[in-house]
Amino acid sequence: MTWQGVIQHYRGHIPLAAAATPITLNEGNTALIRADRLAEQIAPGAGLQLYLKYEGLNPTGSFKDRGMTVAITQAVYEGAKTVICASTGNTAASAAAYSARAGLRCIVLVPEGKIALGKLAACLAYGAEVVSIEGSFDDGLRLVQEISQQYPIALVNSVNPWRLEGQKTGAFEICDQLGGRAPDWHCLPVGNAGNISAYWMGYKEYGRGLPHMLGGQAEGAAPIVRGRVVEKPETIATAIRIGNPARWRQAVEALDESDGLITAISDEQILVSWKQLASLEGVFVEPASATGLAALQKEIALGNLDPTGKTAVCIMTGHGLKDPDTAIKMASPPRAVPATLDALAQIVNPSP
Ligand code: F0G
Repeated sequence: MTWQGVIQHYRGHIPLAAAATPITLNEGNTALIRADRLAEQIAPGAGLQLYLKYEGLNPTGSFKDRGMTVAITQAVYEGAKTVICASTGNTAASAAAYSARAGLRCIVLVPEGKIALGKLAACLAYGAEVVSIEGSFDDGLRLVQEISQQYPIALVNSVNPWRLEGQKTGAFEICDQLGGRAPDWHCLPVGNAGNISAYWMGYKEYGRGLPHMLGGQAEGAAPIVRGRVVEKPETIATAIRIGNPARWRQAVEALDESDGLITAISDEQILVSWKQLASLEGVFVEPASATGLAALQKEIALGNLDPTGKTAVCIMTGHGLKDPDTAIKMASPPRAVPATLDALAQIVNPSP
């Protein structure tokens, strides 16, 4: 049967009413890519089986589509006409796309000047009402939580439990793709902490074994690592520029129950991992997405994690085209030459 999205495929695991009609873009079923060159680089000779779960291949270019299909399906089922969210960009783009498909009005709050170009472009194209607020994601989340209590608007941030119900299918898929077992380590970036909470819920529900959860936060936005709210979060990884995660408690639970780890990663290190993903494995992601891999690398180097013969899955949460500005800034500009064979020959076979 052709793939028709995560609700259709995992319906038995998602408590939607039978009468709820899926609003889907055929999300999910993303590639789990073996990354042997990277594995050899970060743990030489250890026989580490490293996989990249390329969630940037979802219809709007991020992992958010798994949860959004369920949240929007439920919102329509409950009769909502308008949805709202605060977002660093990916949730907004996903909400906007699924709302367009469902014929809903969609309002998204984004932090002014701190949203990657591809995300803003997508929100506008899908026809969402984009509100740029003079504040952080955390300010935005507080506002949408309040407004959705005062007006009949469905809130589709991951404080909405239906988001997690869809997002957990990522864990099911990984187990299915690994031949019916969970990995030893599950590595991912942590921002608002919806994803780590949902994955842990998914592994527990699916009963194919439990990984240790390994979270990475950006050093300038690492409230869970530090154990306190970060008032002014800062990082180049704008997707996870969050100082007070809504699912903080569940994230800590997931870390404790799984005997996992959470660690802070500098922007420099995030960018090193980001570059390695693209140049060693051909997997182009947005910077935040490299944070799970950077965490794995760091904990192996510190000796906190023995990679010998282990299986690790790193979640590539968002596509590289989401943030073209950072990619361009990080590279040298292309070489400009005259359109002649001589000029090209100089490049192909430079004289010593
Ligand atoms: N990676 C990317 C690319 C993201 O967009 C996000 C979150 C995360 C990781 C962290 O996931 O919040 O569940 O811990 N983006 C949200 C947004 C905040 O608004 O798009 P999380």
